[in-house]
Amino acid sequence: MTKNIIVTGGAGYIGSHTVVELVESGFNPIIIDNFSNSNPKIIARIEKICKQKIKIYNLNCVDEKKLITNIPWNEVDGVIHFAAYKSVADSFKKKQEYFLNNIESTKILLNIIKKFNVNSFVFSSSCTVYGNPDQLPVTEKTKTKTPSSPYGETKKICEELIQSSEITNYTILRYFNPIGAHESSLIGEESKNTPNNLVPLICECAIGKRKNLTIYGNDYSTKDGTCIRDYIHVCDVAKAHVHALKNMMNCNLNHKTLNIGLSKGISVLELITLFEQNNNVNINYDFGKRREGDIEKIYADCSLAKKELKWKPKKTITDALIDAWNWEKEKNLLI
Ligand code: UD1
Repeated sequence: MTKNIIVTGGAGYIGSHTVVELVESGFNPIIIDNFSNSNPKIIARIEKICKQKIKIYNLNCVDEKKLITNIPWNEVDGVIHFAAYKSVADSFKKKQEYFLNNIESTKILLNIIKKFNVNSFVFSSSCTVYGNPDQLPVTEKTKTKTPSSPYGETKKICEELIQSSEITNYTILRYFNPIGAHESSLIGEESKNTPNNLVPLICECAIGKRKNLTIYGNDYSTKDGTCIRDYIHVCDVAKAHVHALKNMMNCNLNHKTLNIGLSKGISVLELITLFEQNNNVNINYDFGKRREGDIEKIYADCSLAKKELKWKPKKTITDALIDAWNWEKEKNLLI
């Protein structure tokens, strides 16, 4: 029988790509999203890619009562929890809101999962839980630290809640830097807030929405002085969720915490150059001060995810940068 999977935040960036991958793998995704940071029009575009209708509940994940009364939890086989506030910069200004929204929604979902015996839970976490790591590449055994932002703190607290929750099966996925868009150019990063992340900002420069990009710091002790990150195509991140679900189905006590990255560290300058070369555009940039909370270097060892989930990234950084640029050009034309 087709398995019903609740996807909270399914209209968001990684959530929407995961909904598409779930359909392609024969699951029935059911979205919960209140569109606080996403565009309702994305649902029609997901349906266009999937060639089927997708059930959506416009609900807030901190409203336990409504979640329980509206959703047929007895028919739910798994939950993937993306719904969260995600801007690092914003989280310094709205710490309380970030804590309330991100932590409360996770607590509520854990209660519901226990109450209705939902088989599997996948949680959207981040490499931010490693703080400034002592060891590279980062493995799941690398010591976690106090994250450098309130957003990061919420992810670490949620991980701890899940690990002590006594639910039957969970997989915590610690993403590194998801970038790119679906190859159809029908879905991609489309937050309501002004972008803070590097690739959406590069795209806005390329299309002329902004004059230039400020690179935050060129005095780090890296090969060219700019920060190192592990960028991975969003569709590969989305696929990891499907692998995690399949891995947990029919299990009794399957608890995993896994890194999801490409396992390649590249600098901000290298990423900009790759974008320019592969998309045949020019990016104006200058160097500014370091950004508060930025980590100098971080990239993943993902051998555990590869072994446990039988997953591996299929797309390159170049694929991701081409898809990101195509999405930027298309998204303003979409209805
Ligand atoms: C951050 C979070 C990560 C979160 C992600 C998505 C940390 C350590 N990382 O990643 O957990 O999942 O956001 O919200 O909290 N850069 C510039 N100029 C810009 C923008 C960015 O130089 O205008 C640089 C940054 O300094 C950084 C790199 O680009 O070195 C990537 O930045 P960004 O895309 O914002 O992601 P992270 O900060 O790595």
